[in-house]
Amino acid sequence: MVTTSDELRKAYLDFFKDRGHLVLPSAPLIPRNDPSLLWINAGMAPFKPYFDGRKKPPKTRISTSQKCIRTNDIENVGKTARHLTFFEMLGNFSFGDYFKEEAIEWAWEFVTRVLNLEENRLWITIYKDDDEAFKIWHDKVGVPENRIVRMGKKDNFWEIGTGPCGPCSEIHYDRGEEFGNSSEDVIGGEGDRFLEIWNLVFTQYNRTEDGEYLSLPQKNIDTGMGLERVASLLQGVNSNFETDLLKPIINFVSQDSGVQYTEGQRVPFRVISDHIRAVTMAIHDGVLPSNEGRGYVIRRLLRRAVRYGGKLNYEEPFLYKIVPVVVDIMSGGYPELKEKEEHVSSVVKSEEERFFQTLEQGLNILNEMMEEMKDKGEKILSGKNAFKLYDTYGFPLDLTRDVLAEHGYKVDEDVFTREMEKQRERARQARADVGFSGTDGEGIYKELREELGETEFTGYRSLSNTTRIVGIVKDGQPVESLNNGEKGEIILNVTPFYARGGGQVGDKGILIDSEHRARVYDTRKKGGLTVHYTEVEKGEFRIDQVVEARVDEELRYNIARNHSTTHLLHKTLKEVLGDHVNQSGSLVAPDRLRFDFSHYAPLTEEEINRIEDTVNEKILSNLPVEILEMPFEKAKEMGAVALFGEKYGHIVRVVKIGDYSIELCGGTHVDRTGEIGSFKIVSEGSVAAGVRRIEALTGKSVLEHIRKNDNTIKKISSILKTSPDEVIGRLSGLLEEQNELENKLQSLKDQLATSRVDELVDEVQKINGVKVLTAELKGIESDNLRKLSDKLKEKMESGIIVLASNLGNKVIFVSVVTDDLVERGFHAGKLIGKVARVTGGGGGGRPDMAQAGGKKVDKITEALDEGKRIISNHQS
Ligand code: ALA
Repeated sequence: MVTTSDELRKAYLDFFKDRGHLVLPSAPLIPRNDPSLLWINAGMAPFKPYFDGRKKPPKTRISTSQKCIRTNDIENVGKTARHLTFFEMLGNFSFGDYFKEEAIEWAWEFVTRVLNLEENRLWITIYKDDDEAFKIWHDKVGVPENRIVRMGKKDNFWEIGTGPCGPCSEIHYDRGEEFGNSSEDVIGGEGDRFLEIWNLVFTQYNRTEDGEYLSLPQKNIDTGMGLERVASLLQGVNSNFETDLLKPIINFVSQDSGVQYTEGQRVPFRVISDHIRAVTMAIHDGVLPSNEGRGYVIRRLLRRAVRYGGKLNYEEPFLYKIVPVVVDIMSGGYPELKEKEEHVSSVVKSEEERFFQTLEQGLNILNEMMEEMKDKGEKILSGKNAFKLYDTYGFPLDLTRDVLAEHGYKVDEDVFTREMEKQRERARQARADVGFSGTDGEGIYKELREELGETEFTGYRSLSNTTRIVGIVKDGQPVESLNNGEKGEIILNVTPFYARGGGQVGDKGILIDSEHRARVYDTRKKGGLTVHYTEVEKGEFRIDQVVEARVDEELRYNIARNHSTTHLLHKTLKEVLGDHVNQSGSLVAPDRLRFDFSHYAPLTEEEINRIEDTVNEKILSNLPVEILEMPFEKAKEMGAVALFGEKYGHIVRVVKIGDYSIELCGGTHVDRTGEIGSFKIVSEGSVAAGVRRIEALTGKSVLEHIRKNDNTIKKISSILKTSPDEVIGRLSGLLEEQNELENKLQSLKDQLATSRVDELVDEVQKINGVKVLTAELKGIESDNLRKLSDKLKEKMESGIIVLASNLGNKVIFVSVVTDDLVERGFHAGKLIGKVARVTGGGGGGRPDMAQAGGKKVDKITEALDEGKRIISNHQS
């Protein structure tokens, strides 16, 4: 009997293996070479090139269980029995081999004989004109006519974006009236009664970008059975969430949170169990949380799960603890999950921590805002404040809305939206102001380009050539000439100057003839033209003048060294750190290179050494650097790395370094890696969540770097009056001594501060029968101020203390309330927040102990008086 999901997966693949199919492992969730898809979202997705004939499949019959992610219905997840973001699709595929007849007959056989689903609960849908499918279902398989339903294109024509598609036929399972008998409980409806379990697509067409349907060279079969859904039937449970794929996660969460999974409390459990599964599987396949593309989807899923965790009283990271549970369940189908379990849970944990911090900080600020609203008797949070929370503190609007609602408040969303618009406008403006990439700055160049055509680039082969000036721009206006001493932008009909692009900086050099000379200090692309930023140093430059354009060879050569090195580095990072590494940015300058890439943890010393060693090894092997031009598809086939989100033309330029690295690239390179000379990483750090940056040197710069460091060490040794070998020992000794001195100093300060306890206790007043001590002190840092307040609290036994310490340019406050008074409703956090506000600051904390800060030291007395006033007004 097939019951568990592991058994189901196996039974399916075995069944089709027996029928001549090659069983392949699931492809990763990240599509390869398919810019039309963010995620693999169907069993057929990895096989598109086999369907449309671009590639020959290893066998004409293939069967898989494929990991899929679909996020279009994210809002429904948790609310229905069947919506999931991550799911597995069982599929059998024919590439020009068998067609409708076998596909239908086998499907029926599998469902009725292997899974033993009751025949009279099964319903079939077919495409309205597909008489051939009708005949097979009816005449051959024997399904009664009244259980074969003809449907239109919306239901029975399968396509996803562009690519292979065709009419389809689905098998539905009637779970019975008890699952619903509304108007939605019909075949193809949204109700829970009829469950679509298997879709058989007769893949005959290819949908193009323009929406045309072209016949494919061959007829194919693509089928998809939802593993979770079928498991729910086999296991006799009501929803995907009750199957052995998701229920153990829910059980774990219930136990961990101490909240029961009951009728009224299902949604958070379901959301969490689905999202953590998607997140775990995606991170395992190399996705990292970030602000764009797939990374953003993962970030959203994680954050959504954290927020639902709030409904189960989670107040600190918890999702990472579920990762091993997911791995356990899924490793039946995907044993490789175990290998990266730790990596995945540490990524989840660090992302969660970051989000919790955001939430905590945002909540504190929102609480202060609500206090203020309460004071002023307002009920609606201003859109500006909501926007500030969002923009400055990353606190999401829907959360602001939720928290406010809990206190009976609302937010002014119109103003929020307007602020958001203004922000976008500012960003647009900022881009335009920069001019180089902004649209405004480009207008004039676009016009010129219409007139002049694109600039021809000769700089891959030569570094100087004779050329003609075809355009000059000064201060944003086209002009006829540039005089001696003037700066402007010159456009040539042909140029060897490389315009900034692909991370590589623009070339520098000169424009020259016997009487004229201009210095080119940058080259950029604008509106399709190559623009030379020039300063005339001799004579006058006019349109139509013929000059010699010469690139600074030394600089260009150093740039080429660094550019080829970024390719070696990219490949090496993948080798040393793993496949999840992808370039997210780079700067290739003459004196250094910078490389940004996706990776979660700081690199260890050992990793850095391995990277340096490998790149240097490739340099010493003196590998040839070949530049090839070929169709994009061919480049992909050769495994060339293309940058996600970049647009490439049909014919692409490929840079191939030995057999080590192959990348699409328009930059300039050395001929052999030996020319790079040497490679040294000089820094490694984080630039954004999940993005690391390496800065490195090549060629002579490495020598200069070593020399400089050497000199520094020599100087340090001479200051410390020791030899370079001893310098570390000497320095550690000095630091130790300093530490001791600091400790001594600190204990003296402590003594001094606490020696004032008795003196201060004398100043205690009684307000409405409560002992209150407020005092202004000078120059006491916050640690000592807290210690002092603790001592005072001990002495006073019952009371409220508000201490202010004037630090010259700012003031810090500490407030302590003894437990008996906390019980009577006094609150140190709230009190100190209001006190600090008088000095232009803020802060808060617990009812018994809180800290705050302010700026206006001249208002301290007033602030402390405010404190006393609040205490005296207290009603308990
Ligand atoms: N590709 C088809 C689907 O996803 C089988 O439903």
